Amino acid sequence: MSQISPDMTISSVVDRWPDTARIFARYGLSCASCAISKSETIKQGATGHGGGRVSVEDLMRDLNSFADTGKLPDSLPPASGTAAPGGGMKMRGMAEQKGIKHVIAVMSGKGGVGKSLVAGLLAVGLTRRGFRVGVLDGDITGPSIPKMFGVREKPPVAADGKSLVPPRSRGGIPIMSMNLLLPDEGEAVIWRGPMVSGAIRQFFSDVQWGELDYLIVDLPPGTSDAPLTVMQALPISGVVLVTTPQALAAMVVTKAVKLVKQLGGDILGIVENMAYVRMPDGSQNEVFGPSQGLKLVIVSNAPLIAKVPIDPEIARLSDSGQIEMYDAPEFEELIANFLAVAPEKHPQVPVASGAT
Ligand SMILES: Nc1ncnc2c1ncn2[C@@H]1O[C@H](COP(=O)(O)OP(=O)(O)OP(=O)(O)O)[C@@H](O)[C@H]1O
Ligand SMILES: [Mg+2]
Repeated sequence: MSQISPDMTISSVVDRWPDTARIFARYGLSCASCAISKSETIKQGATGHGGGRVSVEDLMRDLNSFADTGKLPDSLPPASGTAAPGGGMKMRGMAEQKGIKHVIAVMSGKGGVGKSLVAGLLAVGLTRRGFRVGVLDGDITGPSIPKMFGVREKPPVAADGKSLVPPRSRGGIPIMSMNLLLPDEGEAVIWRGPMVSGAIRQFFSDVQWGELDYLIVDLPPGTSDAPLTVMQALPISGVVLVTTPQALAAMVVTKAVKLVKQLGGDILGIVENMAYVRMPDGSQNEVFGPSQGLKLVIVSNAPLIAKVPIDPEIARLSDSGQIEMYDAPEFEELIANFLAVAPEKHPQVPVASGAT
C-alpha cells in the first residue's frame, strides 16, 4: 500500500523521510526544504513548479518506492540541466567511460574556510582506507592542492602524445592542477568562464587518471560563476560543503546549498572547519563562536559529517606539503561519516586494504 499520497504536504514527507528531498529535487521541486513546502501539497508542487511537466504519477511511484525500500529508485530522472551536478546521462557516461566511479566536489560560499584542506583530507583518508583516489584542483587561480601535497612535477605527456600523466603525491595520489602547468608557479591566471570550462573538462578527459573510486574536486570560492563553471564541466556525483562557525560564513554556505539544490545536485554532507581549539585541559574553545552546524543541517537537509578543530599541525603540514602525515581523531570521524552518508554513492569494497 502507498504510504505517501499526493495530498500530503511536501514538508511532512521530507520530515519523515529526509532523503526524499533528493527525489523532489530531481523532479524540479528543489523547494522541498523551504517554507512554502509546509503548506504546499505534493500535487500542488508538481503542477506549480514543473509547469505541468512533472509527472505526478512518476513522482509518487518514486517517493513510495523510497518509503518502502529506503533506497533511491533507479528510475529517478537525471539531475536537471544537461551538465548539472549529479550529471546528465551524457555526463555520467563520461565518468563511466573514464573508469571513475564518483566525482565529489568540495565547495563553500566563502574563501579561506578550508575547502582545499577538506578536499585534501578526504583524499588522504579515503586512500588510507584502500580506495583509489585522485584530486582535481578546480581552482584555476589557487595553488593550494599541489602545495599541500608537496607536488611540483610537471605532468608528463603520455605515450599517446595527447593526454597528460598526473604527478603523484608521496602517498601515491594522482593530482592535477593548473598550477603544475604554469611556467612559473607564482604566475597569475586570469581566465574567462569558457576557458575555465575547457581547461577543467580537459583535466577530466585528457588526464590519465586510471581507474578511480573517487575523484575529489577542489572548487574555487564563491557561490556564483566560478564554482558553477567547474561543476557544470564535470559529472559531479555529490558535493561536500565546508563552513566555519562564523555567522557570516554560515550565511554564504546557505547560498551554496541553494545553488547545489537548484542544480538538482546532492549535498552529501557538511564539514564545519575551525570549529574549536582543543585546550590543554581537554576542553574545546569555540573561538569563532558557537557551532552553526545544526542550522546548516536544517537548511541543507544534509548531515554534519565532521567538526575539524583549528590545529596548528594542520597549518604546518599543509604549508609544508605533508598533509598526508596528518593524524587526528576528527579525521577518522570525517572519513567514517563520509562513507556512511549516501552509501549508494560509494563503491562497495575497497580494492586494496591497509594504510599508506
Ligand atoms: N582547521 C584548521 N586548522 C589550522 N589551519 C587551517 C585549518 N583549516 C585551514 N587552515 C589553514 O587555513 C588556510 C586556508 O585554508 P584552505 O586553503 O584550505 O581554504 P580554502 O577555503 O580552500 O581557501 P580558498 O578560498 O582561498 O581556496 C590554509 O593555510 C590552511 O592550512
Ligand atoms: Mg582553496
